[in-house]
Amino acid sequence: QILILDFGSQYTQLIARRVRELQVYCEIHPYNKVPTNLQNVQGLILSGSPHSVREPEAPQVDLSAFRGRIPVLGVCYGAQLLAQTNGGQVLPSTIREYGRALLSEIDQQNPLTQGLSPNSQVWMSHGDTIVQLPENAQLIAQTPSVRVAAYQLAGEQTFGIQFHPEVTHSTEGKTLIQNFVYDICGCSPNWTPASFVESTVAELREKLGTDKVILGLSGGVDSSVAAVLLHKAIGQNLHCIFVDNGLLRKDEFEQVLHSYKDMGLNVKGVDAKQRFYDALAGLTDPEAKRKAIGRVFVEVFDDESHQVTDARWLGQGTIYPDVIESVSVKGPSATIKSHHNVGGLPDYMKLKVVEPLNTLFKDEVRLVGKSLGIDPNILNRHPFPGPGLAIRILGDITPEKVAILQEADAIFIGLLKEKGLYDKVWQAGAILLPVQSVGVMGDERTYERVVALRAVTSVDGMTADWSHLPYEFLALVSNEIINKVKGINRVVYDISSKPPATIEWE
Ligand code: XMP
Repeated sequence: QILILDFGSQYTQLIARRVRELQVYCEIHPYNKVPTNLQNVQGLILSGSPHSVREPEAPQVDLSAFRGRIPVLGVCYGAQLLAQTNGGQVLPSTIREYGRALLSEIDQQNPLTQGLSPNSQVWMSHGDTIVQLPENAQLIAQTPSVRVAAYQLAGEQTFGIQFHPEVTHSTEGKTLIQNFVYDICGCSPNWTPASFVESTVAELREKLGTDKVILGLSGGVDSSVAAVLLHKAIGQNLHCIFVDNGLLRKDEFEQVLHSYKDMGLNVKGVDAKQRFYDALAGLTDPEAKRKAIGRVFVEVFDDESHQVTDARWLGQGTIYPDVIESVSVKGPSATIKSHHNVGGLPDYMKLKVVEPLNTLFKDEVRLVGKSLGIDPNILNRHPFPGPGLAIRILGDITPEKVAILQEADAIFIGLLKEKGLYDKVWQAGAILLPVQSVGVMGDERTYERVVALRAVTSVDGMTADWSHLPYEFLALVSNEIINKVKGINRVVYDISSKPPATIEWE
């Protein structure tokens, strides 16, 4: 495996993604918490950083356990740190270099840069620059404005690159990372979904033995894949609970419960609609609604889990980005919202936690799900917030409003699927606005509600753009909704990007 030491760069996760795409397992650890067991580590990558190596408190790391033993690749800050600690010099650049640059003088003999095309485009993002290399360093690529774009320390497999090969704008970044991971570190592409399933199921069996595990299913990808893996390992000792909070999409509870049963999962569907509606009655503040839903979920889940005697473990669908965030150099980041802890359980439950997906990125979870034969309707579904339609009904929640929104949403999502657009957008849904507007239907004046449609393109939900859906499509959806959903006489389309807007309206 490859070890990535994180110095806080916004791109560190991307380095891991690129290595995983080469089917090589890798882990990210903070620079100040270097793992002690390095037995299987075949190569080390040092990430970039928002810091400057010239700061007195600049992040430092002791590389004596690595240097000379396994190959090391410093990226940006990593490259500057390696240069500085080996007798080179780093100074502020006279021109700050951000964005595209073209490599020149590429050393085709060097194992790191071999195969890169002349003028290969790379992505720069740095305010400091290496003005003098260590004495034993050899320059292996330059750009017109940055002399030291890539170098190797002579006599060892230690490299530094000033640009970011992990971002897609570095068009041959993948070749460079591949050169490092395959040729220099000698890793083989053996990290595949099938190998993951095999080893994970074996580990789970070993760890859980005949213990019982409880797991809350949400209908989403992560909890579903986690459940199927656990089921493969321990069969009927996995007790799944799927709660109907009355805030799901139209018919979703029945459909998803059905798919789970088809997959052989031991799942109990719990109708708790009324408990959620009661708790939400009269609440209008979005955070208050989220808190009420989180609280009732815990209560319902707790009641149900007590029905399972002798449960020892709680299964969770936590994925790798959440784990990285929680141990990150920067500390749990402000980007983690309270809502992502909706499933958090009270510690009086005293269950040990098992998280079979905590080394996977989202797209890897899907690939694993595919290799497990999970229904594509579950694997490819859009993200859906834990509080469900409650945060898509602005203002207070009533069962009537939920029913209206479910109808409108079902028409929108149904047509996206029918017209082949569902997989082209990252997330979509309808929002019920707390406004009424005047309309005319037949000879009658109406005064009814407005629904907003939201569809976005995104990679990870952190940033998003509104989907440029065809006008004819929007016209069709609008017509269908206004004609078929009683209580709605106006449909609008949300054309805001994130930032500054968010994907949800609450
Ligand atoms: P925003 O609205 O913050 O949404 O741009 C980003 C992603 O997070 C989802 N989201 C939530 N998920 N509980 C969840 O489980 C929530 O309270 C919540 N709020 C937003 C949103 O659907 C989008 O995918």
